[in-house]
Amino acid sequence: METGILFKYNYNATAPVVINQGGTSSGKTYAIQQVLFCLACTEKVVITVVGQDIPNLKAGVLRDAHNICERSQPLQQMIKNFNRTDRVFEFRNGSAGSTSSCQRNPFKSS
Ligand SMILES: Nc1ncnc2c1ncn2[C@@H]1O[C@H](COP(=O)(O)OP(=O)(O)OP(=O)(O)O)[C@@H](O)[C@H]1O
Ligand SMILES: [Mg+2]
Repeated sequence: METGILFKYNYNATAPVVINQGGTSSGKTYAIQQVLFCLACTEKVVITVVGQDIPNLKAGVLRDAHNICERSQPLQQMIKNFNRTDRVFEFRNGSAGSTSSCQRNPFKSS
């Protein structure tokens, strides 16, 4: 997987919360997704990427997630399936990576 400096800092971070600050389209989300894919491959984890709404996630985060996968054969081998309905990457080691909207569902009471 081809990675840059942002990947390195996020991957090596040990703090419980890591904040990425930077200009629009400077590669923050892309690098963080690369880190999350690596974590999902190395240990069994459940990851949720939250965005403002589903159309936004589909046009941004999810498109880049698929690009990252397409560009890495080792990563493709670790992924069992992408569930289109629930937008979940299912990994062979049991990890799961999903995307979710932070908008509240008006039809749910909770
Ligand atoms: N390392 C990379 N390799 C290839 N393409 C990249 C890389 N980093 C970013 N890109 C491209 O640049 C676009 C913008 O990057 P990204 O969405 O990560 O920026 P961002 O810093 O999160 O911006 P924003 O603050 O608007 O959320 C991505 O959709 C992707 O197509
Ligand atoms: Mg971003």
